[in-house]
Amino acid sequence: MDGVLTTAARDPQGTVVAAASVRHQPPPAGGRATATGLVDPAVRGRGVGSHLLDWALTAAAPAEVTVETESLTPAAERLFASRGLRQVFAKDVFRFDLGVAEPPEVPFPGGVMLAEWSRDAAGRFFAVYSAAFRDRPGFPGWSERQWVDWLTDDEEFRPDWTLLATDGQAGDVGFIGCAEGWVVQVGVRPDWRGRGLGAALVVEALTRMRAAGAREALLDVNVNNPAGALYRRLGFTPLGRRARYAAP
Ligand SMILES: CC(C)(COP(=O)(O)OP(=O)(O)OC[C@H]1O[C@@H](n2cnc3c(N)ncnc32)[C@H](O)[C@@H]1OP(=O)(O)O)[C@@H](O)C(=O)NCCC(=O)NCCS
Repeated sequence: MDGVLTTAARDPQGTVVAAASVRHQPPPAGGRATATGLVDPAVRGRGVGSHLLDWALTAAAPAEVTVETESLTPAAERLFASRGLRQVFAKDVFRFDLGVAEPPEVPFPGGVMLAEWSRDAAGRFFAVYSAAFRDRPGFPGWSERQWVDWLTDDEEFRPDWTLLATDGQAGDVGFIGCAEGWVVQVGVRPDWRGRGLGAALVVEALTRMRAAGAREALLDVNVNNPAGALYRRLGFTPLGRRARYAAP
């Protein structure tokens, strides 16, 4: 592939046990490169990862490099730190096993009604999303159009699992957005937090997914977001940590 360098490590039998790649960005983002790599757990702790990382940093130079991983381990954290890389982003991926466990019962706060996604209601969804996420670090400040495209321009988007919660008096107070097998986003208006609405929305989506035959539900959440505790309490288990590192 254009602008992509790869390397692999094999064991004495010739089986690939580790691999890394560096992708140099084309203009206008030229001067930047993204590196990623994977080491088979069976050969970890033997310096293979250090070797691959050093290869990647050399292959990326002189571009400004970002190192991405889908499965951050404590050893990888130490390795990145030892090369002067700084964590710029980290998300935990959580999984709910719909094949084994039934979602817990969580009632909606009294007076809350649900409506499924429709284009006509996009502006109302967007208003609740903005109110819920405005105070999160890294809030992108997208326009309604950008956010709606991000959420719905996906073959896997599920309008019937994407729900707006409306209170008879307070108006629109929360929402959840889902795709096939994924809880994409959940948000509750700040003045409505702590009443069980977030939990009820997640459980409602899980229940709909299970009724449709889905085996699992995944979601990811920033490691510094207290919502992680909510997902654990509902029965999600951590699958792994995605992270991105950059040279200062
Ligand atoms: C996460 C969120 C949807 C939870 O909604 P909610 O209606 O307050 O959730 P519930 O009342 O069902 O549960 C509250 C739980 O959420 C967790 N929580 C999440 N954010 C919290 C916050 N800002 N302050 C306190 N608790 C928070 C706590 O673990 C709390 O657990 P507890 O009930 O055991 O104390 C809401 O805080 C929110 O909109 N946050 C901003 C958007 C966001 O980060 N969404 C999740 C990432 S996709």
